[in-house]
Amino acid sequence: FIRLQDLIAQNALQGKRVFIRADLNVPQDDSGNITEDTRIRASVPAIKAAAAAGAKVMVTSHLGRPTEGEFKPEDSLAPVAARLAELLGQPVELKQNWVDGAGLENLQAGQVVLLENVRVNKGEKKNSDELAQKMAALCDIYVNDAFGTAHRAEASTHGIAKFAPIASAGPLLAAELDALGKALGAPARPLLAIVAGSKVSSKLSILKALADKVDNLIVGGGIANTFMKAVGLNIGKSLVENELVEEAKAIIEIMAKRGAQVPIPVDVVCAKEFSPTAAATIKDVADVADDDMILDIGPKTAAILAAQIGAAGTIVWNGPVGVFEFDQFGEGTKTLALAIAGSKAFSIAGGGDTLAAIAKYNITEQIGYISTGGGAFLEFLEGKTLPAVEILTQRAAAQ
Ligand code: 3PG
Repeated sequence: FIRLQDLIAQNALQGKRVFIRADLNVPQDDSGNITEDTRIRASVPAIKAAAAAGAKVMVTSHLGRPTEGEFKPEDSLAPVAARLAELLGQPVELKQNWVDGAGLENLQAGQVVLLENVRVNKGEKKNSDELAQKMAALCDIYVNDAFGTAHRAEASTHGIAKFAPIASAGPLLAAELDALGKALGAPARPLLAIVAGSKVSSKLSILKALADKVDNLIVGGGIANTFMKAVGLNIGKSLVENELVEEAKAIIEIMAKRGAQVPIPVDVVCAKEFSPTAAATIKDVADVADDDMILDIGPKTAAILAAQIGAAGTIVWNGPVGVFEFDQFGEGTKTLALAIAGSKAFSIAGGGDTLAAIAKYNITEQIGYISTGGGAFLEFLEGKTLPAVEILTQRAAAQ
């Protein structure tokens, strides 16, 4: 695809109308305060570079999943506009009802405006050509810098790229693809993946895709319980998906045939109830009782996995291995997080819970690359084509 940086190097942005699709879908509290602004920060380099190159910059994003055609105050990007203005050090006016170009006639070179929640527009989710053409008509250059939304074919992530005079990839999108490509394309071996979380069902396709690629597949959380059951262990009353036990067995077999492994915990941290004050008891897996609930890996398991992490060449991390929000069930995730931080491997991490764990254990600086993608990160790991990227590549071939 064409990169924004190359267009800037050719001085192609001066005085041009540049439409940047960013992913500014950030979490907010009940009062609308932004609780985590990584995505806004990550969008700044593209916006700054375009403004500095003399472009008239229009930025848009979705926020949440609003009903189209029905704008509600909580759908507004207003808090994002304020935060973006702070980060850019320049005013960022929020434009409403902008699809037909109202309020965008007199933008100045170097000016940055934010276009209100793109998903409120009829046809955005359905990727309507009519809406995409209208958005394309607003600009001379389209820039997709929204890696977090690259798995969605919507009018502002896909359709517009067909119709804009020039369609390009922003630096964040390019960096994400470079980092993920490095981790999975020709990775330094051993390639180790940590796939954890409450449910196998939500990550089954990733587990299957990785089973053919990685040397070591560490499972954690509720996912590990299903794998433990698959090898015949008692998991008490832990979260499990009985209907996926056979799938778990199949994954273990595929891995074993390739000489790769799915390490099964040797000890766990149990409780009798799921609560922030529940008492934590460390048990060998053979001692798990019928009324036990497994909420973390035990210290012996954590040490074994930490050693494997230390020996890895590449690490892909998605999901905490225990209920790390409660400190007494966070030691497993903490040990693995510190092992990743201390390893010489190229590491890449993504997903909301994973980012929260990275922040909690203060290892942001030690991770090779932290993805801004949730669903997009997972779909890339599954080996799926990201439609927003595919269309840019097609356009580049045709341009
Ligand atoms: C995300 O938060 O994963 C992206 O912004 C995509 O949001 P969506 O799942 O509502 O499309």
